[in-house]
Amino acid sequence: MNTLHPTRFEFVFLQRVGLPFCDGCLSCVRKGEEFCPEFESIDPIVKKMELADGIALAAPVYTFNVTGLMKNFCEYFMYKCNRPSFFGKQAIVVTAASGGGHKVVLDFLHRTAGAWGCDVVGRLGISASQMQREAYVEKVNAAAQDVAEKFSSAIINADRQTPDFAALINFRTMQIMTNSAMATKNYRYWAERSWLDANYYTDVPSKPLTRLAVNFIAWRIRTAKKKGKISPVR
Ligand SMILES: Cc1cc2nc3c(=O)[nH]c(=O)nc-3n(C[C@H](O)[C@H](O)[C@H](O)COP(=O)(O)O)c2cc1C
Repeated sequence: MNTLHPTRFEFVFLQRVGLPFCDGCLSCVRKGEEFCPEFESIDPIVKKMELADGIALAAPVYTFNVTGLMKNFCEYFMYKCNRPSFFGKQAIVVTAASGGGHKVVLDFLHRTAGAWGCDVVGRLGISASQMQREAYVEKVNAAAQDVAEKFSSAIINADRQTPDFAALINFRTMQIMTNSAMATKNYRYWAERSWLDANYYTDVPSKPLTRLAVNFIAWRIRTAKKKGKISPVR
């Protein structure tokens, strides 16, 4: 990225941060992030992320999934999925595996950064076991170059991405949930931003057909909820 544009990086190694497991008190969601028992450890990281133009979330594949370390970190940010604020912030997601499981991790990191409000502009999954092969390394370099270019140019041009189907569905389900929880911190946050009856968090236009499909699904969820017709997932 520095060959494309002077870029300052700051690395946060979760192993060194040493967060204990999130105990699921949900104080961050219900009362406010400052009520998290680990606020003093989390807040400096949030401040770094708030100041950054871009965020790269990276974690290897462990047991076909994201590492416990990264998952635990994301749990401390659950409130940000309820009250997203990283709009206009670009993100990339990166993983490495011996062989397989990249998609699960990339999808998780992508959706998580998206739920915080970021625009995810690049994804990269590398197979460590293939790094002895010259041809593979060349492909990795080309893919890394492409991701770096996308990340750099999205930051410089302050690009805004069209929300895709998953992002719109996530918005609608959060909206349904928030609308049925009046007198909560989340409800006030959403009301202040006029999100309670909006089509999306921002005014970036989405594709009409995608919006139509999402509105239909949202209507079905609302109706099923009202009629008490939600079934266990199997
Ligand atoms: C507990 C554990 C579970 C792992 N699970 C997987 C896995 O499910 N799939 C896979 O391809 N690699 C798996 N790996 C390998 C890591 O992804 C790999 O070590 C990492 O990408 C870094 O590569 P390196 O060890 O060659 O530096 C696992 C490693 C550990 C320590």
